[in-house]
Amino acid sequence: MIMKKYLLIIMALLLAVMYMGTVATAAEKEEAKKASVSSANVFNRLLKKEKTKNAAPADDGIHDVANDGTHVLQPPLIAYEGLPSSDFGNYVDWVKSLNAGMLKPRYDRFDPKVEPLVMDLDIVREVKASVPDVVFPHKPHTQWLHCSNCHPKIFIPQRNANVINMSAILLGQKCGVCHGKVSFPITTKSCKMCHSKEKPKDWKPPQSEASLKTPWR
Ligand code: HEC
Ligand code: HEC
Ligand code: HEC
Repeated sequence: MIMKKYLLIIMALLLAVMYMGTVATAAEKEEAKKASVSSANVFNRLLKKEKTKNAAPADDGIHDVANDGTHVLQPPLIAYEGLPSSDFGNYVDWVKSLNAGMLKPRYDRFDPKVEPLVMDLDIVREVKASVPDVVFPHKPHTQWLHCSNCHPKIFIPQRNANVINMSAILLGQKCGVCHGKVSFPITTKSCKMCHSKEKPKDWKPPQSEASLKTPWR
């Protein structure tokens, strides 16, 4: 009887020690992960975390504090109140807000009556890596933007005629001309916005000509 009691106490102690062990290593791992992620991306302003969400113009580090106009502008936290939220950028889902009729962007700077030239055409860009393929939707873009914002300077208007990759985007070219500046940024939470088409179940990475010629096994 006594032996059984001791055995139980020892087991309970052992479990407690094991549990504490796992807690410590999980916290350490999290710390290490954070350190490696942030140090790998310090060069990249697009992946940098902002200190304050939607700071007022005078505190956002973009507007000139010495300019009186800066202090007249409506602070974003007031302007964005009631709009559907998102997890990144300025935390507003602009596409939803527009489609819900909560915004009426003026399509022409001078004439308030000009209607947008909306085109509903999705372009699928098959990605060679294992991430989901990219769907570029013309509709949410042309609701705000005239074709000439992109064609022909940023993109030749022809499917797959443009070379696009993440390095270019993160350096502020191609999609990165706008994404990360005036539209939702590249963050670990926004990948799925662009990479939205799941790969087929039987998808295999394409092989280069070299590895087809000389298979390594
Ligand atoms: C935000 C940028 C952007 C805007 C604005 C835009 N496009 Fe595009 N367009 C693209 C991209 C990206 C592609 C795909 C290019 C590729 O795959 O290499 C494309 C492709 C096209 C294509 C080729 C389709 C095909 O099947 O080959 C046409 C035509 C086109 N756009 C017309 C338009 C027209 C007309 C407008 C205005 C109503 C417009 N685009 C507005 C970015 C834009
Ligand atoms: C000329 C500026 C511009 C360029 C270039 C551009 N976008 Fe956009 N994009 C916008 C704006 C503005 C919106 C709408 C506001 C927002 O969602 O941030 C938008 C919205 C989107 C959306 C819709 C998000 C939703 O909520 O449904 C996707 C997806 C997207 N862009 C992908 C791309 C991809 C992929 C490229 C490059 C092939 C690209 N964009 C190039 C300006 C641009
Ligand atoms: C604004 C849209 C957009 C966002 C957001 C985005 N991507 Fe991409 N990504 C693209 C486009 C466009 C390509 C080029 C596709 C092609 O080959 O035509 C691409 C390509 C890639 C590739 C293939 C390698 C390369 O550079 O071409 C990888 C891997 C990738 N993205 C990962 C990610 C990850 C991870 C995230 C989130 C941190 C992300 N992407 C966010 C648009 C986006």
